[in-house]
Amino acid sequence: MKIGMFDSGIGGLTVLHEALKLLPDEAYFYYADTDNVPYGEKSTEQIREYSEKAVRFLMDKGCEAVVIACNTATAAAASYLRERFEIPIIGIEPAVKPAVEHNAGKRILVIATSVTAREKKLEDLISRVDDKGLVDVRAMPGLVDHAERGDFDSAELMECIKKDLVDISPGDYGIVVFGCTHFNHFKKALKSIFAPGTEMIDGSAGTARNLKKLLLSRGAVSEGKRSLCFYRSGREVTDEKTLKYYEQVMKHLEVE
Ligand code: DGL
Repeated sequence: MKIGMFDSGIGGLTVLHEALKLLPDEAYFYYADTDNVPYGEKSTEQIREYSEKAVRFLMDKGCEAVVIACNTATAAAASYLRERFEIPIIGIEPAVKPAVEHNAGKRILVIATSVTAREKKLEDLISRVDDKGLVDVRAMPGLVDHAERGDFDSAELMECIKKDLVDISPGDYGIVVFGCTHFNHFKKALKSIFAPGTEMIDGSAGTARNLKKLLLSRGAVSEGKRSLCFYRSGREVTDEKTLKYYEQVMKHLEVE
């Protein structure tokens, strides 16, 4: 099946990476909206407009389902998109529920973009599942730009992380939930801040499972050769260097 995915940049590659493990033989169309990154510092209306454009583009490519590989766009635009398009639109959600179910009494920290941290969708999710009041939320606005620059470990990045977490006591937390798909690329850097053994989880595997369920329910799982097409805000990525870079970024997720 032709599956579209979009994010503001390389964050959604974490979802693509998980989808490729469960559904290796589909035709994937990945749209990185690099003209408009970061989504997390935009208005809800702007994010809806960008997301609608991305979905239209992917539908024009023949996609029969679209995965919003971005927590920010899911929080700001998932319902809006579902009202406008008939094809299935699968969103990603911070993995707060599994975190609450599996924590051993320690606190849980959800880190996300400013938009996700302030949108009602996250507040609703937390009040639904956090019956013991263990979940804290923290916006980390500087990280996405570092990821887009390919900076995953510089001193400047570490400063940015420390600044965003300035009044947080890392030792209080047993689980950190990534509420932004870009943050998976900083697992190593974040692990160095939190206590050893602090779990880091995110919603990308759950999103890939939901995609697989959808395909199974439609008898639409493909067998054969996969294909991958990448676009930067609608322009096809054809240069080998960028394609290799995307591949490397996905491989790196496996190592961490
Ligand atoms: N990767 C996105 C997310 O999951 C968006 C980051 C951004 O553009 O601010 O929230």
